[in-house]
Amino acid sequence: MRFKSFFIAGSIVLGLTQLGYGQAGTIVGSKHDFSLSNNTWNFALPINAQLQGQICRPCHAPHNSNNGDIARTNYTDNAGTFGPLWDHSLSTANYSIYSQGYNFWREGAATIGNPDGSSKLCLSCHDGTVALANFRSYTTGVTTMANFDGGAANLGTDLSTTHPISFTYDANLATLDHKIWDPTTTPSGVHSGTIDGDMLENGKVQCISCHDAHNGAGVNHLLIKSNVGSALCFTCHKL
Ligand code: HEC
Ligand code: HEC
Ligand code: HEC
Ligand code: HEC
Repeated sequence: MRFKSFFIAGSIVLGLTQLGYGQAGTIVGSKHDFSLSNNTWNFALPINAQLQGQICRPCHAPHNSNNGDIARTNYTDNAGTFGPLWDHSLSTANYSIYSQGYNFWREGAATIGNPDGSSKLCLSCHDGTVALANFRSYTTGVTTMANFDGGAANLGTDLSTTHPISFTYDANLATLDHKIWDPTTTPSGVHSGTIDGDMLENGKVQCISCHDAHNGAGVNHLLIKSNVGSALCFTCHKL
């Protein structure tokens, strides 16, 4: 009896560990599984004959990817590091960015910049200005995020209404703003590292601080970890 309880408790602990550190999910079956039949833009012939409903191909190409041409023009920072075989045409939109006027508890200390880093890769579809089927050598396609699935995932170019991105979040910011954790010492709960190690890209908050394009954690909205009880928000915010 005692042994059995021990065994059950052990299984629960193991289960929680797996949930805590993710990697239980897969892109297959997620909203980023473009092989699902609702993604007609990814099957349309003849333009996308090479795509044939592949999952990875709308974002990455195994050969001759954009990383060497369009990406280097419009995605000027760290293209080599953050354009992993990227093939989707990038957006040239100008964005309205989050403006921090609020200063209670000295929040709003960060300097928010124009989208950069891998957020540019996300926005190449999610700002709604570039066709979903628009690649290095395929320039057509009429379906954009704005007219796909009722525009549910279209952020548009007004990012003043979205959580700030593309800004440095470091130990210094955590001393200016008393209500955020020091990212260099606080565990992320995503993998076994800190917020800085597991969630920031070159020290910056980007879309991938909260999302995983590959659905590694297997939770709603392609989040990097579960946000039940606002756990994702509490990772960085000290409230
Ligand atoms: C919706 C777009 C999208 C799809 C689909 C996608 N990826 Fe990615 N992938 C990204 C982005 C954005 C990055 C860079 C940011 C990051 O590392 O999370 C990336 C990074 C990567 C990396 C380098 C970093 C890492 O996580 O190891 C690999 C390898 C990769 N993807 C492989 C794949 C494979 C294989 C598939 C198909 C099974 C795939 N991706 C599907 C968007 C996508
Ligand atoms: C090739 C185009 C493309 C790129 C690049 C892309 N996405 Fe998506 N994403 C989609 C499509 C298509 C959907 C499904 C939209 C729908 O069904 O309404 C989607 C859905 C989502 C969703 C909603 C998931 C849900 O279950 O509600 C999130 C979150 C998301 N993407 C985040 C990202 C992030 C973050 C990046 C960059 C790391 C990214 N996407 C890059 C095409 C893309
Ligand atoms: C601070 C965390 C955070 C950042 C940064 C962030 N998101 Fe999200 N996003 C979320 C959460 C949480 C949700 C789930 C929806 C909700 O709770 O309202 C979400 C939802 C979404 C959705 C689904 C919208 C819907 O209603 O179906 C898309 C698409 C999306 N995010 C894309 C992005 C892109 C692209 C970026 C970068 C420009 C980004 N997100 C940056 C936290 C974030
Ligand atoms: C990866 C860390 C991280 C995560 C996760 C995160 N935030 Fe933030 N958030 C920040 C940082 C850093 C700032 C900028 C703080 C500053 O400027 O002093 C910020 C800014 C904000 C602001 C703007 C504050 C202002 O002064 O205008 C709000 C509101 C906010 N976050 C809410 C959320 C919510 C809600 C969630 C969960 C969906 C969330 N955040 C998740 C790091 C994060």
